[in-house]
This record gives sequence, C-alpha cells and structure tokens, in this order.
Amino acid sequence: MPLSIVILAAGQGTRMKSARPKVLHTLAGKPLLQHVVDSSRALEPEQTLVVVGHGADQVKAAMRGQDLDFVLQREQLGTGHALQQCLDQINPGNMVLVLFGDVPLVRAETMAAMIEKTRDAALCILSWTPQNPFGYGRIIRQQQAVQAIAVQAIIEQKDTTPEQQAIGECFSGLMLIRGDRLQPFAAALKNDNAQQEYYLTDLVGIAVAAGDTVAAVVCDNADEVTGVNNQQQLAAAEAHYRARQVGALMDSGVKVSDPQRIDIRGVIETGKDVEIDVNCIFEGTVVLGDNVRIGANCVIRNTSIAADSVIHPMTWIDEAVVGREVSIGPFARIRAGTDLGDEVKVGNFVETKKSSVGKASKINHLSYIGDTEMGADVNIGAGTITCNYDGVNKSQTVIEDGVFIGSDTQLVAPVRVERNATIGAGSTITRTAPADKLTISRTKQVTIGAWSKPEKKES
Ligand code: UD1
Ligand code: CA
Repeated sequence: MPLSIVILAAGQGTRMKSARPKVLHTLAGKPLLQHVVDSSRALEPEQTLVVVGHGADQVKAAMRGQDLDFVLQREQLGTGHALQQCLDQINPGNMVLVLFGDVPLVRAETMAAMIEKTRDAALCILSWTPQNPFGYGRIIRQQQAVQAIAVQAIIEQKDTTPEQQAIGECFSGLMLIRGDRLQPFAAALKNDNAQQEYYLTDLVGIAVAAGDTVAAVVCDNADEVTGVNNQQQLAAAEAHYRARQVGALMDSGVKVSDPQRIDIRGVIETGKDVEIDVNCIFEGTVVLGDNVRIGANCVIRNTSIAADSVIHPMTWIDEAVVGREVSIGPFARIRAGTDLGDEVKVGNFVETKKSSVGKASKINHLSYIGDTEMGADVNIGAGTITCNYDGVNKSQTVIEDGVFIGSDTQLVAPVRVERNATIGAGSTITRTAPADKLTISRTKQVTIGAWSKPEKKES
C-alpha cells in the first residue's frame, strides 16, 4: 500500500529557551527535522508532508528543495490537530506514518517494522520504556481472552492517574494509520483533556472503541526514540548519535583510539585498516582509503583521502581531494578546492586553497598556496607565498613540473614558473621564470664599510 509520511514540526519548543524553532536545532550539525526526513526516505513514501507553524518561514527555508509538501498549522492546538490539517492533502487511501520532528534518531528499520505489523491492524504505535517516563504518554494495555495484552489507549502525563503514572511503557510519537481509518478516526478527535489540545494519542482509544486492533512495536533501544524537548535532551541525543556512528565505524573495521572522543557529523566511508586518533571531527561526506591514518585533533569535512595517506595532528581539511601516500600536517590547513596528487607532502603551517598539486611535490613549511596549478616533483621552499589577490581580483599561479622555489619567495599572480626552473631564495617573482634557468629578483648582498651603529643621544 502506498505510504504518506506526515512529520509534525509546528510546535515552538518552549522548553529549549531559544528563539530558533525547535526542529531547526542541530544534532551532529544537521537540523533535527532533517534527521527525520532523511531516515524516512528509505521507506520510499509517495508523499512527505511537513506540518509547520511556529517559525514556519524559517523552517520552510531551511528545508527547501527536498520535495516536501508544507502544511500550515496556524494555531498549535495539539498533535492531533496538526494531523487534521493534512487530511485534504494526504493521497486518499494511503497508509499514513506520523513522525515527530523532535524525535530525530528513529532508524528506518524500526519504521519498516511498524509497516510490517500494521498489515492486520488499523493502527500501529511505537512504544518503549524510558529510564524516566515523566512527561511521556503512557501505554494502557489490557489482558484479553484471545490476545495476550492488547493496547487500549495512550494517556498523556497531565491526564494520568497516580496508578497510570507508575506505567513504564511510553509512546514514542510514531504512529502508523491504515488508509481507510484515517478520515473517520481523525474526525472523532476531541480536546476534552487537561491541556485542551487535540491529541494524536487519542486515536488509539478511538480505534479500540471502533472495534479495531491496535498493534505496537516495542523499541528496545531507548536512545532511538528519546524526544528532544530541552537542551539537556539535545546533548543526550547528540551523545547517542555519536555512539551509534562510532559503533558502526568500528564494526566496519576502523581502529578508533577512543570511541568517546570522536564526532561523525555525516557519512564516513572507510577502507581496511584505517586508524583514527582522539578528538577528530568528520563532517559531511568523508572517504578514507585503506591504511589511512588520522592523527589527533583533526577536522575533516567533505573530503576524500586515498590509500596509505597520513594526516598528522592538528590538521583541518575542507572540501579537498587527497591522493595516495600523501602526508599532511601537523598544523596544516587544506581549504576548499585543494587537489593533492599521490605522494604529495604538505607540512606544518601550510595553507592551501583552490590549488592542484602534482605527484610527489613538497610544500613542507610555512606557506600559502592559493589559486595555483602545480606540477609534479616541485619543491616549495619554506615561507613561499602565492600573492593571488591584488585587493580586487584573484589571479592564478602556474608552477610547472620539477620547479625548485627557494625559501621566502613571493609569486605575484598571475605568474608562471616554467619546467625545472629554480628560483633563488627571497625573490619576488612578477614575470614568467623561464624553464631550466635560475631566476633571482633580490638585490645583491653588500656590506657597507662606512657604517657605524647609531649612538644614544643625550636627552
Ligand atoms: C508527545 C506525545 C506523547 C509522547 C511524546 C514522545 C501527544 C499528545 N503527546 O508529547 O504521548 O510520549 O510526544 O516524544 O502527541 N506539534 C505540532 N503541532 C502542535 C503540537 C505539536 O506540530 O500543535 C509537533 C511538535 O513540533 C513536535 C511534536 O509535534 O515536533 C510533538 O509535540 P510536543 O509538544 O513536543 O509533544 P510532547 O509533549 O513531547
Ligand atoms: Ca516532544
């Protein structure tokens, strides 16, 4: 049966004590709502509706271009009311999976298990037993003759009796509703409760009253279904996410020095025998080839690093392509658009940007290489700077194969250093340096015989 997904994201999130709508708070660098959207994609829904209200424009802007249908809930009158706003837009007859924008870590497999269970039920809920059930809706089950223990209702915290407060099993926020039941059940919602809200959770009691079966999938991993209502829960969710990511990384064979001290805020793909030292952060999509070693305190974002390369400690790499057997750092900054060929060496206090570096070239110390096309087997002396910016425009530097640049050279772009040229140390190069020749631009060394140290004046 085709599936429609409804994600509730209209609430303010008062308990976050923030001006930002709750669902836009970030977990691993990505909005909570984005996590929910991304996980639900695996179910291949026919449509995904996102209910927005508080900060609607901000939420829509943050989530644009993703084939989402936004539904405005002008007044936030409860989770059931939020679902009601979608009724006109849900493709008739579709099964509907309701997700909460503030329950970000549910895995697609768990959602799929709910779909499986709903085959012979009108409704299916996802429940779990949190350490502290306070604040969550409690699952009321009843012993029945035929069935073991059937779900009867969900009671919100504020409507519970003291006996019901002792119930540990809670509602996660995920609910699946069979297509033919959606309209009649949603129409039956009332707001005669402690908060005078239309509760999504009342659909359970409505279904039972109609003689339908309500199925439940019990999630045994509390981390997956923890809701984010305040900053403490957000930090806890971040820790769960981190543990999940690093667990998967180790399962794929990566040696992680300390699983507590690594952050994976995106997707990381790894080859065999990769080693990662402490305090590294990986963001976006990172690919590490076989035997790649990452030293302590590195930040690597949207980058691929080929086999046998070593990244030494304190290195930042952003939007770069790194070849095989490359050595970078310590203390290097590799910026967007850098493409390092195989066997390249980039040493300490070197910054590169929008530059390609050919095979086995070395930039070992204290350099800035920007907007540069560098050939193979080039040696860049310490302190060499490409002067790529004249205050208005950026210009290109070309350094051909086999060039040797003496230390403390400035290459004033646009400029070209031809094949196998040598540049004398301390030069300022403004015009083409010809192939196979030594080019020097500094003045000759002189010693002034008639010079003496200035004397201190009497005051
Ligand atoms: C809700 C459930 C509770 C469950 C808990 C799980 C209800 C009535 N209660 O409580 O049983 O244990 O989640 O985390 O459903 N929202 C709207 N429009 C509204 C109200 C809320 O879109 O009018 C959205 C919020 O943005 C949020 C989600 O629905 O993403 C849940 O709302 P929230 O107010 O956080 O519900 P809880 O009190 O956590
Ligand atoms: Ca919540």
